[in-house]
Amino acid sequence: MASTIRELSGQDTVSIADLYTDVRARTMQIVAPLEIEDYVIQTAEFMSPPRWHIGHTSWFFETVLQQHKPGYRVYSDDFLFYFNSYYEGFGVRIERPKRGTKSRPTVKETIAYRNHIDEQILTILHSPDSLRDAETVLSLVRLGLEHEMQHQELLVYDIKHLLCDQFAAPINPLPKPQGKVEGMAEIEGGLIWLGYDNQGSFAFDNEKPAHQVFIQDFAIDKASVSNGDFLEFINDGGYQNFRWWFSEGWEAVNHEQWRAPLYWELHDDEWMIRDFSGLHPATNKKDEPVCHVSYFEASAFAKWVGKRLPTEAEWEHAACYDPARKVKQAFPWRDTAPNSGNTNFFENSYWSTAPIGAFPAGANAYGCQQMIGDVWEWTTSDYVPYPGFKSEFDEYNDKWFVNQKVLRGGSFATPQVHIRATYRNFFHAHERWMTSGFRCAKDL
Ligand SMILES: [Fe+2]
Repeated sequence: MASTIRELSGQDTVSIADLYTDVRARTMQIVAPLEIEDYVIQTAEFMSPPRWHIGHTSWFFETVLQQHKPGYRVYSDDFLFYFNSYYEGFGVRIERPKRGTKSRPTVKETIAYRNHIDEQILTILHSPDSLRDAETVLSLVRLGLEHEMQHQELLVYDIKHLLCDQFAAPINPLPKPQGKVEGMAEIEGGLIWLGYDNQGSFAFDNEKPAHQVFIQDFAIDKASVSNGDFLEFINDGGYQNFRWWFSEGWEAVNHEQWRAPLYWELHDDEWMIRDFSGLHPATNKKDEPVCHVSYFEASAFAKWVGKRLPTEAEWEHAACYDPARKVKQAFPWRDTAPNSGNTNFFENSYWSTAPIGAFPAGANAYGCQQMIGDVWEWTTSDYVPYPGFKSEFDEYNDKWFVNQKVLRGGSFATPQVHIRATYRNFFHAHERWMTSGFRCAKDL
């Protein structure tokens, strides 16, 4: 029942109706600085026009109405076609690379659709007793909100690709580093717990069930690899030397003409980084985590520096285990939700990575910082189901369990309530338009 479902959100508990209102409003806040022409352009096959995101997130809720609200009439068959992403079970759809080839539905029509869905869903949330299967509907709405938060993060990636520093993002000044974060933490291995085991709040099916895995002793970087570190790799000819690269990575370097991470530009022999706030010499951002690197680039750097990437079990154990208390915590700093003083998440409104050392309050028991927020961190782990996995929603997570790598920790574009240490994000090894970085590990 909506009135009895309470969710942890920051320091407060809020009803699912309040969460619905907040999340839906944030999507429109993100796109608010766009001009009408910006909403429909697709600048690459891997991104989607902002108009598509605001319609698609509504479409997801409309599938709930179609299946669970007696007598619900579909808003528009054309919208079902245009706003379905990849769900075979929900019928035919426009091909992803063609989302930017249509000017209809218009932005105005898409917003009217969005408002219609909001009215319908809020009616349900305010009187769930009218439904036969209220528990199911409420859990689907909750999933729809997590889905929308995933698309809010994708909107940040896609708007960056579309406009970058031409977008008038409401940027807050970055925090200053409080001290140096250097070296590696040495962590004892053994039989450890991996996955989500707290029944009190939301988690995706792919984070469950919690299960035991054995890991060897290992060391992990206390800080993410920085732009300064990565610049050394570039200046050492890292992109010209096949020996650091996987075969497929080397093919990507040559085929895509990679010479640096995405959004790095060479101006008069100086590497510059373009972000939402402008064009900056990479040396001015040398102490921020490197961002927009593929798995191939992260792996090549790790080999060059004589280390490797961590597995997701190593990453999660490092992030959450407190050896003094011998317990696994929900977060590096124990069990409270992330706040703006210990994590760089979307609500901080930096629209950027923050300097390494800016969040000492977010440190784990071993002195590692910024594992949560800032950049998603590549792991070597393949995105496959955990032992005992049970799908909770068709075609959501389970159909992607092949050929992708797991990333952990959330980023500056991830909404606060959407971040969990057990969250398994996943992308293909060559992708780099998302907020992806890494830290290295090594054997002991
Ligand atoms: Fe989606």
